[in-house]
Amino acid sequence: MNLTLRQLTIFEAVARHLSFTRAASELHLTQPAVSMQVRQLEEGAGLPLFEQVGKRIFLTEAGQEMERYARSILGTLEEASLVFDEMRGLERGRLHIAVASTANYFVPQLLAEFCRRYPGVQVSLDVTNREGLLHALSDNDTDLVVMGKPPDDMDLVATIFMENPLVAIAPPAHPLSGQARIPLERLQQETFLVREKGSGTRSATERFFVERGLSLSSTMEMSSSEAIKQGVEAGLGLGLLSLHTLEMELELKRLVILDVVELPIVRNWYIMHRNGKRLSAVAQGFRAFVCEESAQMLNLPTLQRLQESIPAG
Ligand code: PGA
Repeated sequence: MNLTLRQLTIFEAVARHLSFTRAASELHLTQPAVSMQVRQLEEGAGLPLFEQVGKRIFLTEAGQEMERYARSILGTLEEASLVFDEMRGLERGRLHIAVASTANYFVPQLLAEFCRRYPGVQVSLDVTNREGLLHALSDNDTDLVVMGKPPDDMDLVATIFMENPLVAIAPPAHPLSGQARIPLERLQQETFLVREKGSGTRSATERFFVERGLSLSSTMEMSSSEAIKQGVEAGLGLGLLSLHTLEMELELKRLVILDVVELPIVRNWYIMHRNGKRLSAVAQGFRAFVCEESAQMLNLPTLQRLQESIPAG
């Protein structure tokens, strides 16, 4: 049978997504190019690999067999390239990492230092919210992920490397700013700007209030921490964000942290990968670098310094 690796790669993506359009966008190809390669593979096999029922496509029996072989051939090739990566050590290789949008406030600094030490490493960075990261993990689309609490229902190797406090923020002129020991219940009277569904910051915040029998009744949804900070500065409402997204605004005194009883919400940053995934030498090196050096290297505001800076009420 005459087939090429390119055809197998394209076929595998179409079979995984059961969509020519999504496979084309993943592989940065046009849809006609994807269809043509699949057609050629079908000609080589002498059998149709997909069938269309209504608007959906399905694998035929031959398609299912082809999928099994494609996965095994492409998996073996990936393993071979990992073996060579390992032989080259950290001198050359690729690192694919995906991070929570909130973590993107400090991960580039870590990557910059890592690339300074290992200039031959090529990095690709995806930034998305928690939900996007869970997809990347389950699709095995990335080497490493940086985010908040790992999900309970996935078999992962997850290591904490730094604390991640979530704090309440307000513009300096807000009546609550400067007040000591604000009761948590008092926040229910305020409008809050909250992140979109699928954000880890949002789910942690919701969980925190529900566990205390409270809820934020007036909320406005915004799809990034940047938008929330701008909105809070403009007086649209209050926010609850990771301390690590606020360095500049706190320094420039555009925003203040409210001294609320029971806050900050104490979270942690984790670096994780799927259990059983074979990490390349570069990915192992980056993981070790993050676990051993990041907290010290980044020198971000910490919970302890935050508590010291709030006047005792
Ligand atoms: P984000 O953060 O999805 O709110 O950006 C991720 C997390 O805290 O896990």
